[in-house]
Amino acid sequence: MIKKAVFPAAGLGTRFLPATKASPKEMLPLVDKPLIQYAVEEATGCGCEELIIITGKQKRAIEDHFDSAFELEDALVKKGKKELLEMVRKLNHINFAYIRQRAPLGLGHAILCAKPFVDGDLFAVLLSDDVISPGETLLSGMIKLATEKQAPVVALETVDEKEVEKYGIIKGEDEGGGIYRINALVEKPKPKDAPSRLGVIGRYILTPDIFDILETLAPGKGGEVQLTDALNQLAAKRPVYGYLFKGKRYDAGDKLGFLEATVELALKDSALSAGFREFLIGLMKNELSH
Ligand code: UTP
Repeated sequence: MIKKAVFPAAGLGTRFLPATKASPKEMLPLVDKPLIQYAVEEATGCGCEELIIITGKQKRAIEDHFDSAFELEDALVKKGKKELLEMVRKLNHINFAYIRQRAPLGLGHAILCAKPFVDGDLFAVLLSDDVISPGETLLSGMIKLATEKQAPVVALETVDEKEVEKYGIIKGEDEGGGIYRINALVEKPKPKDAPSRLGVIGRYILTPDIFDILETLAPGKGGEVQLTDALNQLAAKRPVYGYLFKGKRYDAGDKLGFLEATVELALKDSALSAGFREFLIGLMKNELSH
């Protein structure tokens, strides 16, 4: 299966300023866990064992978060706080590697930074600001398809027409069962130029030949080295597949998406849901009466 997963986390997070001025966007908590931990748990839940995080300036908190916390663990042991200790140690057995992207030159460039660590293998890429509701089987389905076909697979979502400008959009053939054979991809097209309403979301299974393309790829939209452009070139050379996701995804890199994710995940949290639900109902009643 697929053992390596790459987490690009070197972006500037401008949609979430000022919070992201000196703190990583990936460390924003949804209820009680940072965004990147949701993605890490999704990958380890699918059998990934070697996790490669692409970091940048102001991102050191990510490394600290996944490191052991000796003093904290010791204090919890002494206080007999077993549950908290388990929570803190949960990912201590995972191998993390960190690579610094020297400048935020784009997602394609961030992935190229992982080349020395993943050369030769199929690997997963997870963008942690796209939060997939825990319990969904998106990544495992993608891994199965990619290993069967020995081909790259990207996650797709049907997006509203006015939203196509925010996504990489595919042109492809429906192969049935939510699988598409991709002919071309275009980054953030105007609605009138979009070849479909199938947008790429932040889960990919890639093959190492993507690096050959990324190495020579010129910057595209926004002056950034775009993964979409590299996938477009790849699709001209070999089969590339799309895997349609119909479950719940939150764009937590965006303030509104983040709030939606917070509310929905809090409502699913057994320790919080009753009190939070009561609070929301009271709030809505109050809002509606004004
Ligand atoms: P985004 O465009 O969603 O993230 O990039 P951003 O650039 O951090 O955020 P905004 O748009 O300014 O608010 C998608 C993913 O690619 C990573 C980001 O960290 C995010 O996970 N990325 C982007 C890099 O690692 N390096 C880059 O140069 C650009």
